[in-house]
Amino acid sequence: MDRADFLRLVGAGVGVAVLGPCLQGCRKQQDAPHLNVDFTLDLTQSGNQALTANGGYLVTQGVIVARTLDGNYIAVAAACTHQGVTVQYQASSHRFHCNGHGANFSESGVVQNGPATTDLQRMNTSLEGQALRVWS
Ligand code: FES
Repeated sequence: MDRADFLRLVGAGVGVAVLGPCLQGCRKQQDAPHLNVDFTLDLTQSGNQALTANGGYLVTQGVIVARTLDGNYIAVAAACTHQGVTVQYQASSHRFHCNGHGANFSESGVVQNGPATTDLQRMNTSLEGQALRVWS
């Protein structure tokens, strides 16, 4: 190995050592795809029972649908805008929480704290009898 080969090898090693952690820790924010959804949940079906109690929620078709403590229905895109972990609804805190890295979003999907910097897409909801329509 001559001097030039040695320097190339060392340089590559230093590059990996320096850039490796940054590439892991500096991953780009998740591009938040715009969801086009329009579906109706029958609240009399057992699979949707979580939505019959205040504070309950479920995730379907990429959307987290929740019933607030006031009995209103809300829905936002379920994938955290940071790196895509599915968020949870925390009724008592009036927010959506991501266990991935701790981001929180308001009940309307607005970022409360990072590392996420982009809001969750908010969906429309309407209830007619026991039919809950969710659409973007
Ligand atoms: S994926 Fe990182 S905070 Fe949600």
